[in-house]
Amino acid sequence: MGGDAISIPLSFQLTGARIGLRPPRATDIGGLRSLLRANADHLRPWSPAPANGLDPLSLTELSRSIARQRSDWKRDVAYVFLMVAHTERGEPLIGRVALTSVTRGPFQNVYLGYWIDGGHQRRGLASEAVDLALAFVFGTLRLHRVQAAVMPHNDASRRILARRGFREEGIARRYLCIAGQWEDHILYGLTGEEWCEPAARASVDAQEEAAR
Ligand SMILES: CC(C)(COP(=O)(O)OP(=O)(O)OC[C@H]1O[C@@H](n2cnc3c(N)ncnc32)[C@H](O)[C@@H]1OP(=O)(O)O)[C@@H](O)C(=O)NCCC(=O)NCCS
Repeated sequence: MGGDAISIPLSFQLTGARIGLRPPRATDIGGLRSLLRANADHLRPWSPAPANGLDPLSLTELSRSIARQRSDWKRDVAYVFLMVAHTERGEPLIGRVALTSVTRGPFQNVYLGYWIDGGHQRRGLASEAVDLALAFVFGTLRLHRVQAAVMPHNDASRRILARRGFREEGIARRYLCIAGQWEDHILYGLTGEEWCEPAARASVDAQEEAAR
């Protein structure tokens, strides 16, 4: 069985070897706006179109969304993390991992989404971030299931989920409105029983490699 709603302080962070995940702060507005502006073309094909008449990159909307995310965090409704890179010069923002619509009771489920800055792709950083997020979901939040939805041609995202043991559960037709079109998505699920911590998975990978 999964757990009851819990309270995680907003000072909480997850630390990986190359990146970290932490909740957004009001002081992130400028950095987040620059990151989203720089990545507008990279993210557009995979992102919902903005709601009517609203500019999601305006200072007002960014400020509102950060305040909403912090409020949702405190109420065990959703956990949105900003991804930061560990560098000698500080911790610049490089992406986001969102755990949304936490459902307790008999479902104990959360939805997973993520993106990373175009210039930081193909270095395993999103994989590292998803590993941290899964340890948080199953270890800290004590949830039972994570669901993700991916467009069939999003090879990198599908690879991230497959490598982490997510099962393909079927195709959901016209599931999400992405860039203005209702797009089919492959639904992926992973339950706590199936989840394998990264260290244990690395050991299994090494054994399989050795057996080849
Ligand atoms: C999807 C996304 C998060 C991947 O980030 P990333 O940091 O480049 O991913 P990783 O470097 O961890 O790579 C993950 C795996 O995908 C593979 N991969 C990366 N880019 C790929 C590509 N363009 N085509 C095929 N495979 C790819 C990697 O080789 C790696 O495989 P491996 O684990 O077997 O080595 C990033 O491309 C992105 O932000 N895309 C736009 C937003 C998006 O699609 N979000 C997900 C919506 S469901």
